[in-house]
Amino acid sequence: MTSGTGMKKLLIAVVVFLCIANLKGDLRVIYPSSNISVEEMRSLVLNCTVKYKSNNHTNIPEVLWCKIEIINQCIKLQDHPKHLIMVSEMDDTEENTKRRLVSVQINNLTVSDSGTYQCNAKTPDLKTAMGHFITLTVQSKLE
Ligand SMILES: *[C@@H]1O[C@H](CO)[C@@H](O)[C@H](O)[C@H]1NC(C)=O
Ligand SMILES: *[C@@H]1O[C@H](CO)[C@@H](O)[C@H](O)[C@H]1NC(C)=O
Ligand SMILES: *[C@@H]1O[C@H](CO)[C@@H](O)[C@H](O)[C@H]1NC(C)=O
Ligand SMILES: *[C@@H]1O[C@H](CO)[C@@H](O)[C@H](O)[C@H]1NC(C)=O
Repeated sequence: MTSGTGMKKLLIAVVVFLCIANLKGDLRVIYPSSNISVEEMRSLVLNCTVKYKSNNHTNIPEVLWCKIEIINQCIKLQDHPKHLIMVSEMDDTEENTKRRLVSVQINNLTVSDSGTYQCNAKTPDLKTAMGHFITLTVQSKLE
């Protein structure tokens, strides 16, 4: 065996290890980053998928959609009927793993709804995961 293939094997072992390590402590928030532009008075649905280990019932995450006005500070979107939250849950293809889809419909958009939005997840044992930022621009209609 040349040192070249030895190196390759080591590299593969490291990559496999990192993948397993990444899947193990698993709580992930999945959706793309985006910049959205919508006209006022319309509504918008933001979708957040949280992947989590479901083999421990004490570890079910709480999932929130937030508006971020000050860095690291979540203003919960919970102002019914302006914000309608929809939740569904399904098994993931990976064993002992679930996906929870949490969507928020923001109704009757106004220019003041413009800003940065983020979904985050927190388990009772205080593991947290945060999603990408979504930047919303609400355009005022010209008279
Ligand atoms: C959103 O806009 C910002 C600033 O213009 C830009 O840097 C970023 O790449 C954009 N993101 C996406 C996903 O288009
Ligand atoms: C969220 O999901 C709904 C239904 O699939 C879709 O119509 C909507 O465009 C999605 N929202 C975003 C911001 O991608
Ligand atoms: C479930 O998770 C909690 C919090 O991390 C931990 O204290 C408990 O031992 C776990 N139970 C099992 C069966 O793994
Ligand atoms: C939408 O918002 C505008 C401005 O705040 C308000 O005047 C209007 O009554 C709202 N419409 C609905 C259907 O809630």
